[in-house]
Amino acid sequence: MGSPRLLPADSGLAEAASVLRTGGLVAFPTETVYGLGANALDARAAARIFEAKARPSFDPLITHLAEAAELEKLVGVVPAAVAALAERFWPGPLTLIVDRPPAIPPIVTSGLETMAVRVPDHDAARALIAAAGVPVAAPSANRFGQLSPTRAEHVVRGLGAAVDVVLDGGPTRCGIESTIVDARGDRPVVLRLGALPVEALEEAVGPVVVRPGSSGQPVAPGTLAAHYAPRTPLRVVSGAEPAAGDGARRGFLAFRNRPAGDWAAVEVLSAGGDLTEAAARLFDALHRLDATGVSEIVAEPVPDVGVGRAINDRLRRAAATWR
Ligand code: TXA
Ligand code: MG
Repeated sequence: MGSPRLLPADSGLAEAASVLRTGGLVAFPTETVYGLGANALDARAAARIFEAKARPSFDPLITHLAEAAELEKLVGVVPAAVAALAERFWPGPLTLIVDRPPAIPPIVTSGLETMAVRVPDHDAARALIAAAGVPVAAPSANRFGQLSPTRAEHVVRGLGAAVDVVLDGGPTRCGIESTIVDARGDRPVVLRLGALPVEALEEAVGPVVVRPGSSGQPVAPGTLAAHYAPRTPLRVVSGAEPAAGDGARRGFLAFRNRPAGDWAAVEVLSAGGDLTEAAARLFDALHRLDATGVSEIVAEPVPDVGVGRAINDRLRRAAATWR
């Protein structure tokens, strides 16, 4: 596996934009995780994303825009409830479902007549998209089913030369993917828990339905039962289970307190018990535990509120890979 060109997110921007314009793949930082971007108007460029990630063709991509104002230019009239959410939360970690416009080739949406779209809250990401002058299709920049990348080196290690350029903007702020909401119907439906907490959505628009992974469609990548998995088998313990190490080569992913006993490796997500910090560190901690060569990762769930719900969702799906 060769290496992609690794460029600083500021000085490498113009070159990365030109790679996007000419059909190449650029991994770039967002506030959530690193994305693997291609020109969303170019079916062949989008096809390269599926190839690079070994992503099944039924798993649709998210289209990224530089500005909220570009949504109407791309898709025409947007339902009022969708526009209101965009107005309130963009730029930010919220992905909205709209009708797929004719300009977006069906491969981007895996043949769906709907399209997922968001404006990332990250200066380099938005500057890149603006400089490219096209909407950018981008899933998380990891091989399908594996841990999401929150640092440029995670992308380099995971995808290698399958990606042309990696823009290095340092660690991502949220550390967990965007919340996906379908607000086209009577009541907004959360299709994927993510960095924007359900509570924040409900404060803005009233009650929402949370239905991650139950769309009944062969869609939702991050909503497949097994996803976001380290290479090492991962098990989630119930809060009550004593987390005593037994000297075996096992690693422990803790929320705030170091576990008792012998562990080959321990990662604490937030000593202060802050869920936002825990989310930001989640995938990085799992990447590190994976690299230690332990035979099993034992993880404890975090409080199931705010972004903690999205953290627990990722842990459950990671564990499901090993059942
Ligand atoms: O934070 C994020 O959303 C990151 C950054 C890079 O923006 N992207 C990301 O993409 O997490 P990915 O491919 O890992 O997840 C895309 C999710 C999948 O769960 C997919 O099913 C859902 O978006 N999705 C895409 N298009 C959809 C559609 N038309 N209807 C329902 N879900 C859709
Ligand atoms: Mg993903």
